[in-house]
Amino acid sequence: MFRDQNILLGVTGSIAAYKSVDIARRLVENGAHVKVVMTEAACRFITPYIFEAVTGNQVYTDLFKDPFSHINLAREAHLFIVAPATANTINKFSCGIADNLLSNLWLAYEGPIVVAPAMNFRMYRKPVVKKHIRDLRQSGVQFVGPVTGSLACGEEGEGRMVEAAEVVEAAVSALSKKDLTGQNILITAGPTVEPIDPVRYISNRSSGKMGYAVAKAAYRRGAEVTLVSGPSSQQPPAGVSFIKVERASEMAAEVFKHFNKATSVIMAAAVADYMPSDAAKVKLRKEDEISLKLKKNTDILSELGKKKGHKVLVGFAAESGKDVKSATGKLKEKNLDLIILNDISRKDAGFDVDTNVITIINNKGNIAEYPVMKKIEVADIILDRMLEISAKT
Ligand code: PMT
Repeated sequence: MFRDQNILLGVTGSIAAYKSVDIARRLVENGAHVKVVMTEAACRFITPYIFEAVTGNQVYTDLFKDPFSHINLAREAHLFIVAPATANTINKFSCGIADNLLSNLWLAYEGPIVVAPAMNFRMYRKPVVKKHIRDLRQSGVQFVGPVTGSLACGEEGEGRMVEAAEVVEAAVSALSKKDLTGQNILITAGPTVEPIDPVRYISNRSSGKMGYAVAKAAYRRGAEVTLVSGPSSQQPPAGVSFIKVERASEMAAEVFKHFNKATSVIMAAAVADYMPSDAAKVKLRKEDEISLKLKKNTDILSELGKKKGHKVLVGFAAESGKDVKSATGKLKEKNLDLIILNDISRKDAGFDVDTNVITIINNKGNIAEYPVMKKIEVADIILDRMLEISAKT
């Protein structure tokens, strides 16, 4: 994820400094060369030694130890993360005050920056702090958090630093190419559930992993993303406009509502093809045998295919085997640009696994096969192919 990337991690004086150790660890594990710069206050909460152990690099604390450290560190870094960032440091950054190594680095550094604030909610809501955060945001600094939660002082409020995983995700996003800027991508994910009665339902094994990966990758690359999802335990990706639905009819309504402003639609959801004709209003009594009458749900993609215009439409085909003929049939029937065939009979592909094995078929009959990959990598390949078509329309 961060291979060959030099990342500077600035740590300031907050109790949340303990989370920075986890951030450093995750960055290193994902291939980054991490150099940590700590303020004097940060060293009162946590020692440099722990970061040296985690990163394998010297930790920088003193502006005067090496007269050019602020220039050299700034020059070699591809990304600068400040986590936790206190109100004091944020205000200094915004005003251009350079009175320690970290704030000197801030002035000398010219690349992408991610800042994760941490402070008491009263400090966070102070107009002067709000103003400086707004100014820094306008100058291109990417803020992640803070969130509302319990604070170290025992109070509850907005000021808690986000978890390490979110800072790392913001770092990935900051380093990603932004080739999808200007695209508005509507993505569906997960299963739908069709009630039989208030307790029971018909559904399928989709976990949402594939669709959520596409949404995450698209947002990282600069797209505006709307994710319509059936029930899933996946965490909605940060920055994505998220809509939760249950039934196929609800998914259809949301997709149709957001279709107009979309430049592309990618339907990874496993939409139930049928629903019980008459869902019981009360719990059905246990009988030896029951019969269930089903009726067909609307085929969402087929409906979109009828009014496609210049939008790029991408469907998935869940097939038991590498059935190119069946997937091509779906592509034609639904008037799609691309269909992503995944062979769900494999253990490393399809439902509820972190990997997928796909064959991409386009509307000219071209077929491209791919090896087993993580779903997030599959997502990037699908987005690349979508973008190629979008550039031509
Ligand atoms: O969620 P995961 O656990 O990560 O699993 C991923 C996945 C296997 C669900 C995903 O990769 C996938 O294959 N999704 C499509 C599953 C499916 O419903 O395939 P299908 O061949 O039945 O449908 C073809 C296409 O029509 C799909 O894009 C589907 O979203 C769409 N469709 C289907 C039925 C319907 N009523 N309306 C639709 O729009």
